[in-house]
Amino acid sequence: MKALDIRVLGDPILRTDTQPVAEVTPELRQLIADMFTTMYAAEGIGLAAPQVGRTERLAVVDVEGARYALINPEIVTREGSARAEEGCLSIPEVFGEVERPQRIVVRALDADGKPFELAADELLARCIQHEVDHLHGKLFVDYLSVFKRRSALSQWDKLKGDYPGLIRKVVAGMEKKSKSRSAEHNATAAGEV
Ligand code: NI
Repeated sequence: MKALDIRVLGDPILRTDTQPVAEVTPELRQLIADMFTTMYAAEGIGLAAPQVGRTERLAVVDVEGARYALINPEIVTREGSARAEEGCLSIPEVFGEVERPQRIVVRALDADGKPFELAADELLARCIQHEVDHLHGKLFVDYLSVFKRRSALSQWDKLKGDYPGLIRKVVAGMEKKSKSRSAEHNATAAGEV
């Protein structure tokens, strides 16, 4: 398992719709394993295939131990509404409040290609919705008001020079290095997904 490069805002792949997965192959399982490794190395709680430069309709999440690979996920039920701060591994250090349905039911295939349904609320529901958006070229900043979006994007303009080629390098096994900083983020944000 290896950590993959994360694509950051500006890379057109983040705006590209994904292709449904037709078959769960050993290569796809390897991609799932590498995506988990990448997500943990970057201290995220979710990661979608376009964020690692891939076009498969696939995301991984781990919210407080609720760990899922979601292949061809589809949100089939949405209820309620909640507002909370979000971040994104592809837009590091930029956060914004997003209103989303509070409870969802998602239908997907697992890493063995078996269909399952998952009812989620709170942070897990938010994270899954954020990832499903990624699979359709949508990012959390798209939900911000014009003013807040402009401010988030100008903040990103100052930061993106830190990511040559619009690539964020992550190293597996280095998670502890930035613990204090991420704990600080977690206090105010849902976490980067
Ligand atoms: Ni994201």
